[in-house]
Amino acid sequence: MDISFLLNGDAVSLTDIRPTMTLLDWLREERQLTGTKEGCNEGDCGACTVMVSDESGHRALNGCILFLPQIHGKHVTTVEGLAAPDGTPHPAQTAMIDHHGSQCGFCTPGFVISMATAHLNGATDHDVTLAGNLCRCTGYAPIVRAAEAIEGTGAPAHLRTIVLADGVAVAQSSDCVAPASADDLAGWYAKHPNATLIAGATDVGLWVTKQLRDLGPIAFLNRCADLRGISETPDDWRIGAMTTIAELERYFDPHFPSLSAMLRRYGAVQVREAATIGGNIANGSPIGDGSPAMIALGATLHLRHGDMRRQIPLEDFFIDYGKQDRAPGEFIEALTVPKQADTLRCYKLSKRFDQDISAVCACLNIPRDGDTIRAPRLAFGGMAGTPKRAARAEAAIANQAYSEATFRKAMTALADDFQPLSDMRASASYRMQTAQNLLLRFFHAEEGTATDVKAVRA
Ligand SMILES: Cc1cc2nc3c(=O)[nH]c(=O)nc-3n(C[C@H](O)[C@H](O)[C@H](O)COP(=O)(O)OP(=O)(O)OC[C@H]3O[C@@H](n4cnc5c(N)ncnc54)[C@H](O)[C@@H]3O)c2cc1C
Ligand code: FES
Ligand code: FES
Repeated sequence: MDISFLLNGDAVSLTDIRPTMTLLDWLREERQLTGTKEGCNEGDCGACTVMVSDESGHRALNGCILFLPQIHGKHVTTVEGLAAPDGTPHPAQTAMIDHHGSQCGFCTPGFVISMATAHLNGATDHDVTLAGNLCRCTGYAPIVRAAEAIEGTGAPAHLRTIVLADGVAVAQSSDCVAPASADDLAGWYAKHPNATLIAGATDVGLWVTKQLRDLGPIAFLNRCADLRGISETPDDWRIGAMTTIAELERYFDPHFPSLSAMLRRYGAVQVREAATIGGNIANGSPIGDGSPAMIALGATLHLRHGDMRRQIPLEDFFIDYGKQDRAPGEFIEALTVPKQADTLRCYKLSKRFDQDISAVCACLNIPRDGDTIRAPRLAFGGMAGTPKRAARAEAAIANQAYSEATFRKAMTALADDFQPLSDMRASASYRMQTAQNLLLRFFHAEEGTATDVKAVRA
């Protein structure tokens, strides 16, 4: 495969690349740009953070799980490209020195790239924008002070304008493609049904960097613009499969603020800006956060094989652990979510507040008609081999009076819905007890009792 992009302002054209080479490996091994560090090599530490810019703006991404074809046509800025052409350091670099934000310095390039990206985007919630960067020696307070120090200052001119690589066509081979539309993808995938689709690569990246898997034929979905974004009809929202978690979080904040608050704890910025809702559903994980939320909202899944399309309720997609209702050659095109009043509350329990996978995820959508509960949808992750609705708990509260006694009935019924597992994240009894308690928490929160966990702040 041949690709072209801009690196720190310079045009780069690469021919016959290995499509699963990560940007991090290429920077360090082929370009000797070793400012970008390798820590975990799995998206968790932010040492490899780079800035990727395109028509939609600037994003901080983890270079360790970003394959080269995903940056075709984009502008990549590494720590070597942050300073102005005359050598003046970026304000984030100067602030890190002034505020003693760096000791061993290993994490520092990743931090300054995250800061510079947030600075360009005018984002000042540093606990959020820096949650994906780990530091083992300095401690976070001086780093956050450095980020605060540059709030509101002008971004350097050389980073303000987004320059893109010329529209050079991506050259493809028969077993590695980057289709430009869902139609092209559908045609190719129907003929290569055992191929691996790569969306944001926040799962597939690890298959390569950690499991050293050979992916066989590959289709990169990042050029399918028609699979991306959210559109509205009078009755529903249509969410393209390539819509990122960050886009979902921003779009749904006015409609379902509890959903967006939970999505802000999905990985960290670098993960949310890459990960797609299609990938999150397709991987079938029982502990993914997107599926319980979308099931609770009554989402419909739109699948496509060649020219054939079908729709199913999202909950029916998950058949068993590791088994989904998706035929070879079939892919997720979109989701639709019916418009509705906001009665959704999403709760994510994990060992760490930020950047952690759920032990239990509860997405509880409990509409009311006066004091009577109507058509509740209670969806859980982490409680079974698949994301799943709690059918018995729903039946226990449907058409019942909205009261603590009713919610306590749901808590009892939940024990018949699930037999959770014990694993490194939580024991079965912890999972069951906390899931039951989240139902009670919903009730108390709606009654006005403060139930929010206090977040730790620098
Ligand atoms: C550090 C880190 C933190 C994470 N934290 C969370 C978290 O808090 N919550 C959470 O839920 N997940 C988390 N994840 C998991 C991951 O981000 C999600 O599963 C993600 O949404 C996958 O989307 P993607 O676009 O990156 O998919 P990819 O990795 O590109 O693909 C994942 C799977 O989906 C398939 N696929 C992708 N798109 C389609 C499509 N349109 N049709 C059919 N198949 C498709 C791929 O072939 C592959 O099998 C985390 C991952 C990392 C690395
Ligand atoms: S090396 Fe840790 S996130 Fe990339
Ligand atoms: S300064 Fe050493 S890891 Fe952050």
